[in-house]
Amino acid sequence: MDNLNPAKLIDCASIEEIPSLLHSEGRVIVIIDQNIKELYGHHFPFEQIVVEASEKNKSLQMVGQIAARLMDLEADRDTFLLVIGGGILTDLGGFVASAYFRGVKCGFVPTTLLAQVDASLGGKNGVNLDGYKNILGVIRQPEFTVICPAFLKSLPHHEINEGLAELLKTFILFSNESYKGLLNALLKLRSGALDTISQIAPFIAEAARFKTQVTARDLYEKGERKLLNLGHTFAHAIEKECGISHGEAVAAGIVLAAKLSVKLSVTSKATADKIENDFRLLGLRTASPVNTMTLANAIKRDKKRSGDNITFILIEKIGKCVAYPLPVNSIEEYLYDLY
Ligand SMILES: NC(=O)c1ccc[n+]([C@@H]2O[C@H](COP(=O)([O-])OP(=O)(O)OC[C@H]3O[C@@H](n4cnc5c(N)ncnc54)[C@H](O)[C@@H]3O)[C@@H](O)[C@H]2O)c1
Repeated sequence: MDNLNPAKLIDCASIEEIPSLLHSEGRVIVIIDQNIKELYGHHFPFEQIVVEASEKNKSLQMVGQIAARLMDLEADRDTFLLVIGGGILTDLGGFVASAYFRGVKCGFVPTTLLAQVDASLGGKNGVNLDGYKNILGVIRQPEFTVICPAFLKSLPHHEINEGLAELLKTFILFSNESYKGLLNALLKLRSGALDTISQIAPFIAEAARFKTQVTARDLYEKGERKLLNLGHTFAHAIEKECGISHGEAVAAGIVLAAKLSVKLSVTSKATADKIENDFRLLGLRTASPVNTMTLANAIKRDKKRSGDNITFILIEKIGKCVAYPLPVNSIEEYLYDLY
């Protein structure tokens, strides 16, 4: 039951259609975010286990509680788990599906922008331990992931922003054309010229496909999957030191990665300035609230450090990035005057 194949991505325009995708799955039990249950639960005519989405609940204790509910419902090895919610739910539900009866099939219906372009894709399902994030986890793919941007209509603005930096990151990594298209659509949305999420739906589908393909080629992050960490070495350090949200930290981290790319002559100043300016226009955070020394010390403790080096993802141009190892001992020097 250890599924390492890439998840099948299903683009779905309407929430009502999703249950019909499950016609051949036998008995289905839904694990659903409490807020999504209230808004959309009536569209899913299956037995439901409701979970409040919080980092505190992304725990082994909650894994046990969900498993106990599955036992009460007499779920067996052939039961299919449909997990509906943001990244907290897909992490938790994916973990439960990998462990219950040593593994049952599952499918994901991500309902946040972050989960649609990132968290529900790539097979990583982790839970927290004693306040430390994603310490316990498995790599295992769902049978499918349904990308249905219609859910985003009810997503609060600040939660949209949580996913926006990851979406822009995807196109900085692999497509200048899509980056430009997305930027234009977002700027029109901001100015009120567009009133529907359908304008960014094609970009969500494209970004989801990109992550699925990259992670299928490099499930265990030995090579190209590392590129998806663009901005994240900075972001994790910023988050740890000042507690701003992950999405904000990723936006500031990408801007810092762009500035580091200029300093190391990997890209032009014009490219870094453009990214910073675009992010500012979109209302994303562009400056790190943490000073260089604090940032450098936090980066030295990054879990992705390997030996004496730490690999940064640098930007050559919008649409092309490279992995660039730097010696940990000289990190302060490289970060000095990046701000
Ligand atoms: N496994 C991975 O590869 C991976 C990657 C990135 C992030 N993550 C994890 O994802 C989690 C964050 O996930 P997230 O940002 O998707 O959010 P989330 O699951 O924390 O949900 C955020 C909030 O939005 C609400 N919500 C969800 N969908 C909604 C909708 N359509 N309408 C209205 N409200 C809605 C939720 O109830 C919750 O209150 C973190 O725990 C992070 O560690 C995992």
